[in-house]
Amino acid sequence: MYKCAAILAAGEGKRMKSDTPKVLHKVCGKEMVNHVIDIMRKAGIEDVNVIVGKGAEKVKEGTKDRNVSYSFQEAQLGTGHAVKSAKDFLSSKSGTVAIFTGDAPLIKEETVKEFIAFHENGGFKATILTSVIDDAAHYGRVIRDENGDVLKIVEAKDCNEEELKVQEINAGMYCFDIELLLESLEKLTNNNAQGEYYITDVIGILKSEGFKVGAMITDYEETIGVNSRVELAEAEAILRDRINRKHMENGVTIIDPKSTYIGSDVEIGRDTIIYPGNVIEGKTVIKENCTLYPNSRIADSTIEAGVDIQSSVIIESYIGEGTTVGPFAYIRPETNIGKNARIGDFVEIKKSTIGDNTKVSHLTYIGDAEVGSGCNFGCGTVVVNYDGKKKYKTKIGNNVFIGCNTNLVAPVEVKDNAYTAAGSTITSEVPEDSLAVARAKQVNIEGWVVKKGLKKK
Ligand code: UD1
Ligand code: CA
Repeated sequence: MYKCAAILAAGEGKRMKSDTPKVLHKVCGKEMVNHVIDIMRKAGIEDVNVIVGKGAEKVKEGTKDRNVSYSFQEAQLGTGHAVKSAKDFLSSKSGTVAIFTGDAPLIKEETVKEFIAFHENGGFKATILTSVIDDAAHYGRVIRDENGDVLKIVEAKDCNEEELKVQEINAGMYCFDIELLLESLEKLTNNNAQGEYYITDVIGILKSEGFKVGAMITDYEETIGVNSRVELAEAEAILRDRINRKHMENGVTIIDPKSTYIGSDVEIGRDTIIYPGNVIEGKTVIKENCTLYPNSRIADSTIEAGVDIQSSVIIESYIGEGTTVGPFAYIRPETNIGKNARIGDFVEIKKSTIGDNTKVSHLTYIGDAEVGSGCNFGCGTVVVNYDGKKKYKTKIGNNVFIGCNTNLVAPVEVKDNAYTAAGSTITSEVPEDSLAVARAKQVNIEGWVVKKGLKKK
């Protein structure tokens, strides 16, 4: 059967007290609405429509690489009104629409699949996802008849005393027969405590018209909606725990999961060991047998097998097999480091390529450079890539030895097997197999201290 999804994301999220629309707040490094979109896609739904309203431009911007369509809800008159705004998206379609909210990022892919199958195989015209909790608080209550069939959903603010006691809540996630949903939306009224058009009323409408309405009960944890910063942190903790657990089940050692922060799209190979205080973000891939000693941030990077990293920052870069990084290295975007290389303490590398087996062990800056393999950088090397106006490139061949405290003033090239003497400022090409000395010759003035009367008794 044809399936599509609509995601409610038009509300402002007043309780967040934020200039950012609620659904763009991040959980484990990813916007809540993008979690929901990605889960829909993983559950096999290609055609996804996001209903935007408050902060529409920001929400569109925040979801622009997700290949979704948008509906616009001009005024926020309730969840039913929001779905009605997606009329253009829904009309002329038949089959199932899954309606989810952009502020509930903890739903699992398996549950969505199971939910859609439950709806379609059960022959239901509408199905709600529910969960059971001790204190149903502000959630809508699921009211069933004496046979246990769902009758309707009543919002907390509209509940009578008996209804308030009900512990089964509406998760705000639904499957509908598209044509019947469109018809029912026309019948909604705002005759309720909040004066809003509720999507939840569609359930009661279809039931009273004799259509088959179902409910699938799931784990409360998956249905949590985020309405405040406190709930955002709660969702973060749950998802973090789930992500860490998944990696541990796949063979990754996480020494202290409570202090390890791994984004939801990160991949990690088996036998990698992660010490506390690591933050791994975005589309990062870490292969097998790596050791991440404490306190690094790694974002949108690929780390090959057997790499050791310690107290460093690595952004949008590639680190080859067996290389060691840190402590206190800063690898900036578009850097590509080869195999078995060494990037040591207080080394910053920007937009550069470093070949296999090259060692940059201490206190060095390399920017806009192409460095070959088997090189050694002495302590305190600076690639002078900027003249105050423009950036220039530096090229260093294979097996080059850069003496301590060398300045390489770009554009400049040091050819294969060449050496630079310590303290040199290199401004022109160094030929193959040669030594470049670019510093003043040492002069010793004998007896100078005595003559000046500076000698201590
Ligand atoms: C809703 C349900 C409630 C359920 C709960 C689960 C209704 C009437 N109530 O309540 O039964 O238990 O979710 O979390 O549906 N939105 C719009 N346009 C609007 C209003 C809301 O797009 O005009 C969006 C919001 O951005 C949000 C979602 O719909 O993503 C839910 O709205 P919210 O106000 O949070 O509903 P709840 O009160 O939580
Ligand atoms: Ca909500």
